[in-house]
Amino acid sequence: MKLSPFKLERFFARYEFNVQYVLCASDCETFTVREILALEPEAEARCLDLRLGYTESAGAPSLRQAIAGLYTTISPDEILVHSGAEEAIFAFMVATLKAGDHIIVHAPCYQSLAEVARGLGCQVSFWQADEKQGWALDPRDLQRLIRPYTRAVVINVPHNPTGYLMPREVFEEVHRITQKHGLILFSDEVYRELEYEPTRRLPAACDVNPNAVSLGVMSKAYGLPGLRIGWIATHRPDVLQAMAVVKDYLTICNSAPAEVLAEVALKHREILLERNRDILRQNLAHWTEFFQRHSDQFAWVPPQAGSVAFPRLLEGDVEEFCDALVMKTGVLLAPGSLFEDRGNHFRIGLGRRYVPEALELLESFLQVPKSLPTL
Ligand SMILES: Cc1ncc(COP(=O)(O)O)c(C=O)c1O
Repeated sequence: MKLSPFKLERFFARYEFNVQYVLCASDCETFTVREILALEPEAEARCLDLRLGYTESAGAPSLRQAIAGLYTTISPDEILVHSGAEEAIFAFMVATLKAGDHIIVHAPCYQSLAEVARGLGCQVSFWQADEKQGWALDPRDLQRLIRPYTRAVVINVPHNPTGYLMPREVFEEVHRITQKHGLILFSDEVYRELEYEPTRRLPAACDVNPNAVSLGVMSKAYGLPGLRIGWIATHRPDVLQAMAVVKDYLTICNSAPAEVLAEVALKHREILLERNRDILRQNLAHWTEFFQRHSDQFAWVPPQAGSVAFPRLLEGDVEEFCDALVMKTGVLLAPGSLFEDRGNHFRIGLGRRYVPEALELLESFLQVPKSLPTL
């Protein structure tokens, strides 16, 4: 297996802890351990008395029980907990794909959703979202991309980096097409529960499709990436077993304290979600006003869900723009090349409390003339 560098993670390794404002962050505002423990009277004692031995490889039964509560048809035995969503993506690809297989991936994309398959020697086709249609996906394109040796389709709903949320008819069509062709549907749902219009929330793919694998995580909607707890949920026992075999070569089991904190957080997740959705709504209003003021410089499709969006710089090179911005102001935006995009887009984040402050800096950066006027 030969993996290319994960561009977004290398970019964050360089900047994330050295800049003042990560204005392209995809996670929502986080919480302290104290805040999580305060959600439940027994939680602190439970943590303090926790034995730090190895944990069950599939994930603590009580945590799997809490995770199963997010789905309508999934039992705790149909959950496999991982160290973040990232480990689960890797384990899924290694467990289910082999060199020569073909997969279809929703694009632009979070790189690992395509890269791990490529590293395994698979052929990857991109199912391209159309900015002109509000970053929509056309199921007819999916149908056209299917080959005799296609093994899986990978979607990301709600979508990073565009904030697109599939309408229900398209979602149903994706299930119909993948089932007709006997394909596994890997559905990255790490931004689920962050819909701006809650009635538009889609069911988890694993609840409506026996061949779907849903991916979830504590990192985004709940704002707890430091726990490194993610999971897959599926009715396919063969996929669960094959992924468990791969996990034995990765982290083996999860961090015991992280499992307890994740369980407490999930039991009270409405409290966490309510605060984070509030921040998102306020930041969406700030970004919307910003783009209205600067419609001559940027084009943007407002997100329908999630904590990110993907505007386009109308003039100039977006890499140079992001570079100059971070050097001059300490505000970080992520150029589209990090998501396999060549359309002069950049990713913005909506989940952090400091978005209004960072936007002021961005605004003053835009006011500075790029070069002195010539006489
Ligand atoms: C679409 C998507 N999937 C998976 C992940 C990985 O999540 P984690 O970092 O919590 O493992 C991310 C993180 O940005 C993501 O945006």
